[in-house]
Order: sequence, then structure tokens, then C-alpha cells
Amino acid sequence: MVLFIVSVFRIIFAVSSKRILILGMGYVGLSAALGFAHMGHHVVGVDKDIAKINKLNSLEPIIFENGLQELLKKHLLQTKNISFTTIDKAFDGKFDAIFVCVGTPQKENGEPDLSYIKIAYEQLAEYMGSDYNLIVTKSTVPPKSYQQFANIIKVKNKQANFDIAANPEFLRESNAIYDFLHPSRIIIGTNNKKSEDILRQIYQPLTDSGYRLINMQIIDAELAKYAANSFLAGKITFINELSHLCEQIGADIDIVSASMGLDERIGSKFLKAGPGYGGSCFPKDTKALYSYASAEGVKLDFLKAIMETNKNHINQIIEKLGYFFSQIVKEDMPIGVLGLAFKAGTDDIRESSAIKIIQHFVALGYNFVVFDPAAMNSAKQVLNDKVNFVNSVHDLLLKCETILIATEWQEFKDIDWQAVKSKYNTKAIADIRNITDINILKSTKYSYYCLGKAMMINED
Ligand code: UGA
Repeated sequence: MVLFIVSVFRIIFAVSSKRILILGMGYVGLSAALGFAHMGHHVVGVDKDIAKINKLNSLEPIIFENGLQELLKKHLLQTKNISFTTIDKAFDGKFDAIFVCVGTPQKENGEPDLSYIKIAYEQLAEYMGSDYNLIVTKSTVPPKSYQQFANIIKVKNKQANFDIAANPEFLRESNAIYDFLHPSRIIIGTNNKKSEDILRQIYQPLTDSGYRLINMQIIDAELAKYAANSFLAGKITFINELSHLCEQIGADIDIVSASMGLDERIGSKFLKAGPGYGGSCFPKDTKALYSYASAEGVKLDFLKAIMETNKNHINQIIEKLGYFFSQIVKEDMPIGVLGLAFKAGTDDIRESSAIKIIQHFVALGYNFVVFDPAAMNSAKQVLNDKVNFVNSVHDLLLKCETILIATEWQEFKDIDWQAVKSKYNTKAIADIRNITDINILKSTKYSYYCLGKAMMINED
């Protein structure tokens, strides 16, 4: 954590400062706002939620993100490069660029819901005068959406003088600030030189530091975001699917994965078997790309298989856990769950496998004691009185003989399971993140179920 903050602050930018307006203070908007402020630009962040704006202005945390509070404090109070307000107070038509970062959640049919972004464009149309404005969509939107957004402005405001561009983000929750300031690539989609030049100037502090900016058509930039998320979802899904074969034949998925990852053409990242991809992005974006392509008359069969396999994978894990628990858990004895967030480093439980698993087994009458270093409050909203929340690993181990490791927090990776065995009554471990050392589980005679490894049930 400390190292991370040091590396963010180490970057010192010499910049010709731009005025930037950002619409939407969610995790993309706020991370981008702070990132731009840190690059030396003057940023105004707006949101329709006044409570959120008030919290930001009084430095109250609104999202759980590494390094975010430190940057907020620095740029709100010291450099004063950032301010937060509502659009009616902020808009003066003199911004070098306006970034639209509002949410594009999923509709029931899998399509992205563009209603919030359309409202944002309508609002901009209302405020725009004759000054030139570059409006940049950072939200994840289907290809060609920019044409709809341009039409919204043209219909509402005949005199508006503007260009539209796309600049998708590749930020990971929990690493959003770091990723913004250390991008794998900066993608900009523009349809003229003027927009390209403005965006190049805005990102100059990063490109001067060696980060790569690629300019392309807007449609390519829009698709590039969906393509990246869908491909990563596929990579994870492949290794997850293979883990079932490993269990069946007695191979070890971690060893197979590590050896695959050494091939540079494959790469080791996103090749770690887990309980299926979750969170707010991969499940939503894979569905959105599939439904977009179908509407265009193109069937993306591989993508469809990825989505179905991801769903089957968690169902198979639930089935295997069901067998494991049935052999291990004595009547009414609680199962201890370590981790509730969809991944480590966040308090986000959207599409969290831990939550799905708990809900499934609670319905079957199992009892649970749960702990997560960050996601307890979010989990209480959905699990409320159905499980027993405790405040530490120690409290959980005191109460439970069977443990399910569901999120890969460092705190859980650091547990010495050999020492646990002699101190508590822990007998069985189901590790669906594969963060425990299987050799220690074997030598200390735990019953265990790890992904992609043969299950072990001890009789005693
Ligand atoms: C993802 C992308 O990684 C970001 O580049 C993108 O900007 C973001 O979506 C977005 O579209 O906003 P995020 O959803 O924060 O970021 O989470 P990831 O770290 O990508 O993890 C996604 C899921 O895959 C999690 O459930 C995680 O546990 C799982 N995963 C990841 C694995 O099971 N194995 C792996 O090796 C890696």
C-alpha cells in the first residue's frame, strides 16, 4: 500500500495545464478527475448527486480505491487543481475538454442502458453556447454510440459548436488511480485533427513519460474496450474450464497455468483459476458486446461460449462444494467464509461468487460465519441476518471447523495454515482462489478442496 502511494506521487509532471470538466463521479470519473488533476490540469468534477459532491468537498470517502483519498486531499486542499460541484454551477463553455463518465449499467436483456449517458448529453446540449467544445466519452458504450450522442446535441441545440471523441478506460477497480497514471495504452477515438490534438495535449504528461497513445476512429476505440474485456474474460474462463479436467485426472491447474504463462505469446496474467469472473465490468461488457453484435447480424459464438462456461463453472463449483460440505460439515456447524468481495482490494460485491455460494447454501440450511477486510458493509445489504458477521480471521477460526476461502486478500494469503491447525479446531479448507499451499494442506492432514486439484477428504 505504502509502496503504491509512493509510486503514484513520484510522478512529477511539467504540463501546459488544460481546463477539464468531468461528468459523473463514479469510479471511472473520479479516478480520471484525480489523475488529470495530478497531471497538472484544472479539473471540475460534477455529479447530479449533491450528497456525493458534498462528501467529496469534505474529503469523505465515497469509493474504496487504493491511493484515492491521498490524491483527493492533495489536489483539493494543496494544489487546488480539482473542485467538485453540479453542472449548472460549473458549465461556462470554456473547458478544453468535457469527459462523460456516467454509468452504462446492464438492462435485463443484456444490452447496456445508455439512458444516463443520453441524459448527460442532453444536459450538455442545454448549456452549450457558441464556444467550441470537445466532448469525450469515457463510459463504456457500444460501437457507433457517438453518432447517437452527436444527434442528441444537434437536435437540442442548433448552434452548438462541438466535436465528439471516445477515450475508453482500462482501469481495474482497486488499482484505478495507479492504472490511470500508468496506462498500458491510451486509446483515443477521434474524427478530426483538432480533437486529436486536444487529447494529445491533455495526455502529454503521460506520453512524455513514455506511455503510448494510439489515435483511431471513434468506432474502433468504442469496440477496443469491449474487445479487451471480453478477451480477458475468455482467458480466465479457459483456465477455469481446464481446472475441472485437472481435478478429474489428478493434474494441478496452477502448475499447468504457470507453465503456459511462460510462453510470451500467452502471458501469465489473467490465467489464475478462480470462481469465475465477476464484478461490474466483465459480466456486463461480455453480454453487451454479444447483444450488440447480434443486433448487427453477427453471431459471436466464442463469446457466447465464454459467458455460458463462466456460468457453468460457478455451478460446478457449487456442486463440488456441496459434496465437500456434505462429507465434512456436521449438523448445524457453521462454515467460515473468508472473503465476500468479487476480488481482493475492493468493497464491491457485484457478481461476487462468494455471495452466490453463500446464498445457495443458506437456502439449503447451512450456517455461515463470514469476514471480509473491506466488503462487510456492502455484504450486509444483501446477506443481512442470514449469516453471522465477525470482525477478524481469528474470530472466524474460533467458530468454524470448515473454511471457505472465497476472495484472494493478502491477509488470507498470509495465514499460516500449519499454525492454525495446532491453535484452532480447523479441519477442512475449501479454497476457490487457490491461495493456500497444497503441500501444507496435505502434510497437516486437512481435508481440502482446491480448484483444479484432486479433492482430499480425511476420515477422522
Ligand atoms: C476489468 C478490467 O480488468 C479493466 O481493465 C477494465 O477497465 C474494467 O474491468 C472496466 O471495464 O471498468 P475489474 O472489473 O476491476 O477490471 O476487475 P479485474 O481485476 O479485471 O477482475 C475481473 C474478474 O476476473 C474478477 O472476478 C477476478 O477475480 C477475476 N479474475 C481475474 C480471475 O478469476 N483470474 C484472473 O487471473 C484474473
